[in-house]
Amino acid sequence: TILYGVFGDPIRHSKSPVMLNRAFAEAGINAAYAAFHIQPGQLKDAIHGVRALQFRGVNVTIPHKVEVMDYMDEIDEGARIIGAVNTIINDNGRLIGRNTDGIGYVRSLKEETGINLKGMKVLMVGAGGAARGVGYALAKEGAAHIYVANRTREKADELVKSMSSFTGTSGIGMDELGEVAGQVGLIVNNTSVGMYPNVDAVPMDTALINSPTVVSDLVYNPLITRFLRESEARGAKIHSGLGMFIYQGAYAFEYWTGKPAPVAAMRQAVLDSFN
Ligand code: ATR
Repeated sequence: TILYGVFGDPIRHSKSPVMLNRAFAEAGINAAYAAFHIQPGQLKDAIHGVRALQFRGVNVTIPHKVEVMDYMDEIDEGARIIGAVNTIINDNGRLIGRNTDGIGYVRSLKEETGINLKGMKVLMVGAGGAARGVGYALAKEGAAHIYVANRTREKADELVKSMSSFTGTSGIGMDELGEVAGQVGLIVNNTSVGMYPNVDAVPMDTALINSPTVVSDLVYNPLITRFLRESEARGAKIHSGLGMFIYQGAYAFEYWTGKPAPVAAMRQAVLDSFN
């Protein structure tokens, strides 16, 4: 049996075991994937455990994505620029850190909306950890200009700086959203605003949104946020955050196994687990 797991704190509500175990079963791979509650201060020992027990792969989640970089033998370019690792590949004792969040997001966005990001202007609301991966992947995909608005302006400016060697970028104030929202092809909510239990909150005024825009939300609990519901009512094409979770796992599966991920079965496993 090939061993896999996810390290986080908290970890009890993680959907990764249900999703990846279904993927392995579907692909006919004899593997077991479990959730491990790794508390702050225990991460280094846990990574020693990965080597000792010869795990083939590990996903890393909150709060360990940054610290885990210290314990890798190699970190790929994307993860280095994003500043976080969410996937570890154990290559015969050599641990390679990657980040599949941003590329998973973009693959989901393209598959589910058919969007062509080349030359597109994008508005990102929020500049936290998730936004770093998303911004990097959008820039790599050829987005021509990325505007970033965030409650804390300095964090928007910091993110813009880190992306500026890949694409055009500007940090804007939340009071400037009105001028920008109508000019972009894609608006992404990278904040946690609208997440259960605060389901009535929206990250920005949806009256600013035009009909040809694609509106995307990283939040997937609820599956369709108020922000997406209102944007769709205004004629926008919408994209829910569940796809990012599915495809970050799909990329991890593909790195570990070298086989295409059974994405439909993975999505179904996650949806079934909500009920
Ligand atoms: P994650 O890893 O999920 O991205 P994070 O790094 O804590 O989490 O980032 C959370 C994002 O949501 C930030 O952009 C945060 O804005 P600040 O940088 O100003 O904190 C944003 N956010 C969270 N709660 C918010 C709220 N009530 N209103 C506006 N923005 C909020």
